[in-house]
Amino acid sequence: MNSQNMGGFACVDWSNGNLAGPNVRESVKTLGQMQRLFRDQTELEHMDLNRIIYRVQWIAPVPDGTEGGLFWGTTVIEPGTVGDEYFMTHGHFHMKRERAEYYGCIEGEGMLILMDTARRTWAERMAPGSLHYVPGNVAHRVANTGQTQLKLTACWPSDAGHDYTAIRQDGFGARLLASDGEAILVPTP
Ligand code: PA5
Ligand code: NI
Repeated sequence: MNSQNMGGFACVDWSNGNLAGPNVRESVKTLGQMQRLFRDQTELEHMDLNRIIYRVQWIAPVPDGTEGGLFWGTTVIEPGTVGDEYFMTHGHFHMKRERAEYYGCIEGEGMLILMDTARRTWAERMAPGSLHYVPGNVAHRVANTGQTQLKLTACWPSDAGHDYTAIRQDGFGARLLASDGEAILVPTP
């Protein structure tokens, strides 16, 4: 089946989350766009800043900011580290703080890092089939702890919005670091 057969709507390849169709949007995040988000900025500067860390595809059937609508997306995070910190998404609160979201793991291994407005930070293990409810007022970021791509799906309200500024300024309350091959959540000073 292709998107034409679906009356112009998108198609999902459920085996890998890939989206196809006329309404699908895409963005990529390179290492260069993630300056100062990782603990080891010096290490980052020695890496290829054009390297793609993750890609996002999403379907927006209504304009951004529409109350009552839903968006659907797939994120693919590459494996790797900056120093001992796993490749991860930028992470954000929602602009409308109380808006919730679902994340689901399709393929790969990772950790969903969550932080409430009091900066309490915790993590949930992501493995194929795991489904994660991100409550409102909780910032969310995903780290790839495996050796292969981590593919996840997400569904969020079309009026949620992404607030990256708070994370840019203060980060999360903990970082996910590799220690002897184990992923450990280390509180930030
Ligand atoms: O809406 C979401 O929470 C996801 O689709 C994310 O936007 C996606 O995983 C990329 O992460 P970030 O927006 O933090 O760069
Ligand atoms: Ni979100």
